[in-house]
Amino acid sequence: MDAVATTDFIHVFEPGTEASRPPLLLLHGTGGNEHDLLPLGRMVAPGASLLSPRGKVLEGAMPRFFRRLAEGVFDEADLTARTHELADFVAEARKRYDLPAPVALGFSNGANIAASLLLLRPEVLAGAALVRAMSPFRKPPKADLAGKRVLILSGALDPIIPAEDAERLAQTLSAGGALVDHRILPTGHGLSQGDVGLLRGWLDQA
Ligand code: MLT
Repeated sequence: MDAVATTDFIHVFEPGTEASRPPLLLLHGTGGNEHDLLPLGRMVAPGASLLSPRGKVLEGAMPRFFRRLAEGVFDEADLTARTHELADFVAEARKRYDLPAPVALGFSNGANIAASLLLLRPEVLAGAALVRAMSPFRKPPKADLAGKRVLILSGALDPIIPAEDAERLAQTLSAGGALVDHRILPTGHGLSQGDVGLLRGWLDQA
């Protein structure tokens, strides 16, 4: 399907065939685009509507969802502004495509902005699956996440995301009332077959 350019985000929308499944908000990693996670979305949530925007920040030629100062060091002012911009896009897309609140499925940089959406605009998401995420804020804001399901998939051998950072994120979200399932896989930063199975099982219960 062709990407659609609007006043907001370049994105792809694939309508679903299974009304019982929540739509997925697919958020790619650094250097990715709106097409990257579509095959994964189809695999782990067959029949779900897929909404997949492209991050607007360029690092060299690589799209991202917010600016960073160095690897793992985020420009938190930009992150905050970009999070609200993405939240507004999701609200607008829900009206345009007549969708219930989506579950985010984010990878790496996409998982980090999904975590930020949960913390700053929790009403936008029904839940989130965060693959290789870290805590996006040094001092995370308090959010009311009562009852929201969150899956965090970390890699024990991930050279980019320190284990304690992913753990801190899990604790922050749990403290807000989210139902967090944090799994640590014997893998690195990249997506593995183990991730696919866990995502599918978790999304089947969404
Ligand atoms: C980020 O910048 O969000 C994280 O360092 C992950 C990445 O995109 O490499």
